Amino acid sequence: MAPKRLRESQAPSRRGYDPNWKVMQKTRAHVVSFENYEETAKEITIAYRSALHRFGYVHGVGIPDGFDYPGFLAEFGAFYPGPSGNVIEDVKAEAGMDDVYYGSNRRALLPHTEGYEFTDLPPRYLALWCVTPPAGAGGETTLFDARDVVQQLPAADRQILEREVLGWVSSAGLRRKGIGQESVHPILETVHDEQLLRFSLNNIVLPAGSDRVELFLERVRQEFEAGHNAVSYERNDLLHWDNWRVLHSRTAFEDPQRHLRRIQIRHWSDGRAAAEA
Ligand SMILES: [Fe+2]
Repeated sequence: MAPKRLRESQAPSRRGYDPNWKVMQKTRAHVVSFENYEETAKEITIAYRSALHRFGYVHGVGIPDGFDYPGFLAEFGAFYPGPSGNVIEDVKAEAGMDDVYYGSNRRALLPHTEGYEFTDLPPRYLALWCVTPPAGAGGETTLFDARDVVQQLPAADRQILEREVLGWVSSAGLRRKGIGQESVHPILETVHDEQLLRFSLNNIVLPAGSDRVELFLERVRQEFEAGHNAVSYERNDLLHWDNWRVLHSRTAFEDPQRHLRRIQIRHWSDGRAAAEA
């Protein structure tokens, strides 16, 4: 089966009218300052874990040069390598790849969870930190906690999303590079009593008659559009989210110097071998 046609993304925009979004922007409770980290590491770590648990994501700011990101993130689980084969991956726009849907180019992405095409479990957490922010507009990571949408599903829809086995493929960019993967699994799964959501709008293969699934995808797309939070990076910023409940995406940008680093953190029950960063 051919992958479903790519739906062109409208770059997600900042929205000021969603009440939850307004509260979040007002309190900025998902933002945790690392200033004076040497003296207040314990308090900062508590605030960080609290934001991650409450919102599904946390944005660390004011992080000092030389901060040990892998050492800090190791508290959340073991790491495993990304598509490059490295545990700490450099996320930079690759030349000549702007014509396909691909994480390592400069175009906007669609809302998704990482690793939806993995046969194994997708990463439990994803963390990005900023080496060089982009000059000019765009290049934001956009985030939306889908936990409430999933929890409020009618029982009949939940059953469909847990039972209907769908096809999933890697992005066109990874396939072009010859490192694409394919898998089959439902959108929702429960793993050791924890809810696992896998989500893609374009790299999912829907059999005929998947109307309820299509409605769910569209509903989540709309919720993301209205309720996402767009994070602009400053140097050393750290963004960390629960990839089993939070969707992420990216706005388009121009500056080829934009440079992030990324770590994938596996779930404790993931069978893959852990790797040292
Ligand atoms: Fe991604």
